[in-house]
Amino acid sequence: MVQTKEATATEITVRRVAGRIGADVSGIDLSAELDDATVSAIRRELLVHRVLFFRDQDIDHAQHIAFGRHFGDLTRRPGKQHGIAPEGFPEVLSVDRNAEHERYGKDYEERFRRKWVSALAGWHSDLTPAVNPPSMSILRAEKTPPYGGDTQWTNMVAAYEGLSKPLRDFVDTLRAEHAFFTAVNLLHTDPEDREILKMYCDLPQVAIHPVVRVHPETGERALFVSPGSTTRIMGLSQVESRRVLDLLFEHLTSAEYTVRFRWEPGSIAFWDNRSTCHFAPTDFAHYDNERVMHRVTILGDVPVGVDGSVSELVSGEPMAAW
Ligand SMILES: [Fe+2]
Repeated sequence: MVQTKEATATEITVRRVAGRIGADVSGIDLSAELDDATVSAIRRELLVHRVLFFRDQDIDHAQHIAFGRHFGDLTRRPGKQHGIAPEGFPEVLSVDRNAEHERYGKDYEERFRRKWVSALAGWHSDLTPAVNPPSMSILRAEKTPPYGGDTQWTNMVAAYEGLSKPLRDFVDTLRAEHAFFTAVNLLHTDPEDREILKMYCDLPQVAIHPVVRVHPETGERALFVSPGSTTRIMGLSQVESRRVLDLLFEHLTSAEYTVRFRWEPGSIAFWDNRSTCHFAPTDFAHYDNERVMHRVTILGDVPVGVDGSVSELVSGEPMAAW
């Protein structure tokens, strides 16, 4: 829960950005030691605005980790460690297109994008194939392209509240399966796809979550499905499931619930995965540039639905703390 303390050494200024989500936070230096009152204030603002944006923060990996630890334990990814971590900082996941090209080949990402089953396929909440997905993520930009590469977030509480009452009542009762590579049409007839399918069949990471989760800190109801990770609604036929999910995906990505952030070196976005989805950019892949980002994620709870039922682990391991 949010703690309140009297005096705060830091007077932060919070300015809303979009109509329903996002706020710029200024008047704070994240390289300095933060007092409890400031940490509480940031947490409180995060719960209100869902995603907070900080600019011109000159912090290194250790300071990034220290900032994250104010909000909980940092997550260790389940199963085989994916991604690239900076030397000596396994808690950090680095996103570096050029390093990925070296490791996986030049057109790795582009190849998957061409297999997306819809234009919304990139929207996701972090690591929902785990039974206890991270509560929060903190992404820091080190190098940014001169143009393109913005990230978008959507407010899943507002999207839930924007549904009509009969539909809210219906989705309140549903549960859905989450897995990696959901929105990529991998074909068993394609030899390269077969390698990836084999890897995901050997090491599946699958969880079933409520379609509407109750936020553990605010008690709000939020949609908890995303085009990038939700495979199907349990108990419905494939056709029914597809239609209901498509309706929800179109709705939750409506522009009115979203905010878009332009990155610069030293920018930080801090978001609540329990009440948002985000969309990784794809509009800078067509030209040479450098974009290096670093992320830490905060260990989350097992989601709870409207009726009090909790998520189930189907396959794989829960996320653990570092
Ligand atoms: Fe993400």
